[in-house]
Amino acid sequence: MARTTTTFFCTECGNETPRWQGQCPACRAWNTLAEEPSQRSPREKKGRTAASQATGDLSPVRLRDVATTDADRIRTGIEEFDFVLGGGIVAGSLTLVGGEPGIGKSTILLQVAARLQARNLDALYVSGEESAAQVRMRADRISEDAASVSFLAETDIDAILTHAAKLRPAVLFVDSIQTVHTGDLDGAPGNVSQVRECAARIQRFAKENAIAVFVVGHVTKDGSVAGPRTLEHIVDTVLYFEGTSTLDHRILRATRNRFGSVDEIGVFRMRSDGLEAVTNPSELFLSERSEASSGSAVAPTLEGSRPLLVEVQALCTKTSYGAPQRVATGFDRQRLALLLAVLEKRAGVPFGQLDVFLNIAGGVRVTETAVDLAVAAALLSSALDRDVPAEATFVGELGLGGELRGVSQLERRLAEAARMGFTRAFVPERARTPGAPDSLRLVPIANVKALFQELRA
Ligand code: TYD
Ligand code: MG
Repeated sequence: MARTTTTFFCTECGNETPRWQGQCPACRAWNTLAEEPSQRSPREKKGRTAASQATGDLSPVRLRDVATTDADRIRTGIEEFDFVLGGGIVAGSLTLVGGEPGIGKSTILLQVAARLQARNLDALYVSGEESAAQVRMRADRISEDAASVSFLAETDIDAILTHAAKLRPAVLFVDSIQTVHTGDLDGAPGNVSQVRECAARIQRFAKENAIAVFVVGHVTKDGSVAGPRTLEHIVDTVLYFEGTSTLDHRILRATRNRFGSVDEIGVFRMRSDGLEAVTNPSELFLSERSEASSGSAVAPTLEGSRPLLVEVQALCTKTSYGAPQRVATGFDRQRLALLLAVLEKRAGVPFGQLDVFLNIAGGVRVTETAVDLAVAAALLSSALDRDVPAEATFVGELGLGGELRGVSQLERRLAEAARMGFTRAFVPERARTPGAPDSLRLVPIANVKALFQELRA
């Protein structure tokens, strides 16, 4: 188990003393000594694994005798949040919640803290960003009752962990990792070594005390402070909070999870009283699409390693003068020209007489060819003035012969579509889909002609 000896550290200079004193013998600061579990220096720690730190015992055990942590999962009651984590919070785990400033990281974590506290699981919320009054204002705003959540405004990581060790909450929240620092290292809070060392200390604390910890990490554009990426290998789980400035929906996504699968997403909506879980995300997507969704098709794309559903919108109108216009937002214009040529030649639709406007909704930019089929469906639908079925999604690459080609990681895309509530998927005829979700009806499409027939039917 964890070492129980405690010692006193100066929160100013980090000096260690065995007894409490009013003044630090090293830096002469007053009232700066704080009690905390005695720590070896980071150097001595090297070479010992997290597991051995947790048990303090290096003798081998049979795997069957090892207690699993699954039973220790704490459910927050915010289902989407639990789902993304793989079924709840694992005791002793360290989770990083990344995202751009203002996206709602503090809000969701305060809501989680409130839910835990409501079930008598103590939550300690530490903020180095906001004052108690500011956090209280947020607490008053959200729909959950956060009145009993313990709060601490502190930036010294050792002081934070000392308080946490004393309070022994079920879950500790540190907002944000860029504002905490340790006096043991030179340099301002937010620099890489500060951020890493603080995260390493939090990780050690979590394992030794079996207390789950969430840390907020801002994604920063200017690079002046270390972003969440510098920490990804130190923590157990990485969640990213994403959204667009124009829409109020937010997607929480696990990109790394030692205790569950990655690429699971949870969808939330930012309301005036905090984030609301969207249990049927397709509703959100479909509510934003107009009733008669002519010219709109949804494609499951992959953003790096992450699946993401995007809505492709097309508008085709008769050219009134001169050369037809081709306008694309969030999509490559050359690719659009190519797809139009294929559709004209292979499906016989006279795009040469139409102005074409193509838009990827929500400000997303799509570069992969797997969206070809959705683009083709949107274009045909608008040109023919036929609705695309609202519950359908399209995936596949188009060849110059009008034939449909397979795409990478089709199963993950389909899983995402099913997860988002879609029930029909148009896929390349020759694609192999043994692991496709049961809730999805697959419509195999051989070429653009077949797509044309489907949409006209
Ligand atoms: P916040 O959680 O402070 O973002 P982060 O911690 O990621 O920087 O959320 C900030 C935004 O959310 C802010 O623009 C106000 C908005 N908001 C709401 O719309 N409703 C709410 O109930 C709350 C608490 C915030
Ligand atoms: Mg915040």
